[in-house]
Amino acid sequence: MSYFTEAQSAEAVNARLGADIDPRLDRIMRSLVTHLHAFIKDVELTGEEWATAIDFLTATGRICSAERQEFILLSDVLGASMLVDAINNRRPDKATQNTVLGPFHVAGAPVREMGASICLDGGGEACLFEGMVTDIAGQPIAGAEIDVWSDNADGFYDVQQPGVQPQWNNRGRFLTDKDGRYAFIGIKPVSYPIPYDGPVGQMLEATGRHPWRPAHTHFIISAPGFDRLVTHTFVAGDAWLESDAVFGVKAPLIVDYEPTPDAATPWRCAFDFVLAPAHA
Ligand code: BEZ
Ligand code: FE
Repeated sequence: MSYFTEAQSAEAVNARLGADIDPRLDRIMRSLVTHLHAFIKDVELTGEEWATAIDFLTATGRICSAERQEFILLSDVLGASMLVDAINNRRPDKATQNTVLGPFHVAGAPVREMGASICLDGGGEACLFEGMVTDIAGQPIAGAEIDVWSDNADGFYDVQQPGVQPQWNNRGRFLTDKDGRYAFIGIKPVSYPIPYDGPVGQMLEATGRHPWRPAHTHFIISAPGFDRLVTHTFVAGDAWLESDAVFGVKAPLIVDYEPTPDAATPWRCAFDFVLAPAHA
């Protein structure tokens, strides 16, 4: 046995891991300690800097509540959420790609009729969302559930403005018909900043980063026998597409919104979702 030294710091800590612990936990902790110590050595971290980091993490925890999860936001802006998602959702080329879930999904949105509107506050520019849900061979999937949510015309989700927006504003669930088709009315979404009034916002500012996300609509598509798809569609031409604060943009998810001659629904967003077979 050897005592802790600068040169052997990670080895000294990892030597304490129990012999009979869960093998996955052993691998994760060993790697975490190895990389953490390598990072501290790489930047020759000062005591003051380590204290700043601990204060930052403490503040991140303190601001968390039932309504706010600052650690997920931190994971998002560091690209960790997207990397975990990428590793765990490797899909065939033809399948629609996943992207970040974000903190504003609410389970149990009302199930609405085909063609119904999810916009309850009457704001924004109405948009017809329509298309198909298919498998990777192009076969329609009937009865697939489409869970959709987006911000309102002011760039806020209903859960960010309780009492201001109606509950379930810009949210709904739809089922595809026998031909795998879906259609509903929503709004053409607008870009918005992620919450930046907490430690993550301070970190973005200190590191010369902005908090903006390009305009997008969120979807979770599920059907028995297929991988659950968590994704967005993005509005082509948005100014923030190339610098999304949470790295969620993937080129195939960018859609040209088409103007329509219908004054009541001046936009159309046509997009087909392609589900990959469920993996074990
Ligand atoms: C969102 O798109 O709703 C979102 C994603 C990550 C962080 C904050 C918001
Ligand atoms: Fe969003």
